[in-house]
Amino acid sequence: MIVTDKISVVRTMRWSDPNTEWGLVPTMGYLHEGHLSLVRQSIAENDRTVVTIYVNPTQFAPGEDLDAYPRDVDRDLGLLEKSGVDLVFVPDDATMYPEGFQTTVAVGNLTRLLEGTSRPSHFEGVTTIVTKLFNIVQPSRAYFGQKDAQQAIVIRQLVSDLNVNLDLVICPIIRESDGLAMSSRNVRLDSKQRVAAIVLCEALQSAISAIERGESDGAALRKIMAETIQKEPLARIDYISVADPVTLKEVSNFEGEVLLSMAVFFGDVRLIDNALMK
Ligand code: PAJ
Repeated sequence: MIVTDKISVVRTMRWSDPNTEWGLVPTMGYLHEGHLSLVRQSIAENDRTVVTIYVNPTQFAPGEDLDAYPRDVDRDLGLLEKSGVDLVFVPDDATMYPEGFQTTVAVGNLTRLLEGTSRPSHFEGVTTIVTKLFNIVQPSRAYFGQKDAQQAIVIRQLVSDLNVNLDLVICPIIRESDGLAMSSRNVRLDSKQRVAAIVLCEALQSAISAIERGESDGAALRKIMAETIQKEPLARIDYISVADPVTLKEVSNFEGEVLLSMAVFFGDVRLIDNALMK
């Protein structure tokens, strides 16, 4: 496994044999089974897999948890080596945002809803860094998790709008045994918050059960999820959504697919979860 902080090394390796298919797995590190499931899928589907580890400052607003974001690159590299990754790109800020940097990539309406309401500058940071990683690696396929459902939808729009020449692969959410969706941020929960955090998937479950009983009213489903979360005193709701998975607009009554999603604070730790219902 080659580890580099240099764009030139990535490019040289990528094009040393132009006939190979490359999979890209972008991450911010502090890897868990969710990330590793993407890595495994990429390894299974490509000749070479490159993982990037970069805590991208532009997707954090002032006052968010950039400084507190957990980091352990040595441990990450051990996990990636064991998984059989070919190349790990671990750039620094000066490489990704050199002095004079002034271009951003912004996706429109989709980024103004849900996460975008609470984190207005977030997706511009994501779409800019992801575009840069796409251009640096030029992968055949890029792997993202359904855990960040809106991020996946926004990147799909970016790939389509800008004619990015790759296949996007969206992988299912990996959960802890009690149902909590794996996230690098989970380590920031104290022991009481960690127990309380299972309320996210309980809320999704309660809405899923209601849908299975025939409920198709968005407001009723939002209420069911909110009531489940409000039973947990350590949880503070940021948003709860029952939206169309294409437009991300809130639905009143639905027939086809629906995206249940939420963001909930436990202290200053903000967790997200979602379920896509067909
Ligand atoms: P990060 O939060 O490190 O996540 C990297 C990738 O792993 C994302 O595609 C995310 O959806 C996926 N992932 C995280 N937890 C998961 C889980 N429990 N199950 C399945 N997949 C999971 O998302 C980012 O980094 C950044 O925004 C990035 C795309 C790297 C741009 O900076």
